[in-house]
Amino acid sequence: MENLDKFIEGMPKAELHVHVEGTLEPELKFKLAKRNNLDLPYASVEEMRAAYNFDDLPSFLKMYYEGMGVLLVEQDFYDLTYAYLEKARSQNVVYAEIFFDPQAHTTRGISYDTVISGIHRAQMEAQEKLGIKTQLIMCFLRDMTPDSAMEALEQSLPYKDWIIGVGLDSDERNNPPIKFAQVFERARAENYLLTMHCDVDQQNSTTHIWQTLNDIGVDRIDHGVNALEDAALCDEIKNRKLALTVCPISNGYVTDSMKTTEIKAMLEKDIRVTVNSDDPAYFPGYMNENLIATQREAELTRAQVIQLTINAFEGSWLPTADKTAFLQKLDTYVA
Ligand code: HPA
Ligand code: ZN
Repeated sequence: MENLDKFIEGMPKAELHVHVEGTLEPELKFKLAKRNNLDLPYASVEEMRAAYNFDDLPSFLKMYYEGMGVLLVEQDFYDLTYAYLEKARSQNVVYAEIFFDPQAHTTRGISYDTVISGIHRAQMEAQEKLGIKTQLIMCFLRDMTPDSAMEALEQSLPYKDWIIGVGLDSDERNNPPIKFAQVFERARAENYLLTMHCDVDQQNSTTHIWQTLNDIGVDRIDHGVNALEDAALCDEIKNRKLALTVCPISNGYVTDSMKTTEIKAMLEKDIRVTVNSDDPAYFPGYMNENLIATQREAELTRAQVIQLTINAFEGSWLPTADKTAFLQKLDTYVA
């Protein structure tokens, strides 16, 4: 098998599935805790990392929500976002769509404005100084109520120009897409694009994926690996040209595998599958590590690696002219 590590590292890439709060590295957690006079329940970075031994989605989420307790003021959200963008740019990520979870902060008494202003300021500065373009996606927490999601949607409206779309994350068990049908209908009416997590190997996974198509009308699906269990579902996703944002290293933590065989199967079916990092501070690996792990495990060809990146630019929520420009950049690199 060809060694494509260097090729992957140098390739201009897009990331479509990354939670900004999931990029909070232990080192930054300690720095922010100190700055904000907070005590952490770990003596060192090593001890904190050693506690990241989750084996399913709920055990990860517990650590994820606990970790973001160090984010209090606008500068914290700025530092978090800018650190991720520096890391992404160092891996030749030229475009990223970033999730944030406002309810996880407003429920701690932090204002919506504090959260989004810090993230937005980092996005603008990184675009100017690092040359990385980004767009922001607001996620609702599906283990909270639809009323709470609707409240977050209303809080977002003054910042509409800073947000490209809405998503749905957190614990999927007993929280199906249709629980949020009205919220997403309203989001659509406000001109937001729509995506939802359909996490891997959940109860009723394929039913949930069908709901995102038939009851919600999503523009993308986050994860969605279990669609492979249903041929008609695969056909529908393919016909609608929906991107699936799969996160192999993350999948390897919360299920029994990185699902790279499934990623390859989707490529072979011409489904618009992409590879992403999800929560790279917790599931160690940014874009390069995720692509390299996938290529090695599934023995992807160079053409398949390139296709994953084409899929990401084409499936992105960029205007057509920007997609064309990024695809041109990729073409030049490949040549
Ligand atoms: N799934 C659900 N909720 C999340 C995730 C995820 O992968 N990451 C952060 N919140
Ligand atoms: Zn995710």
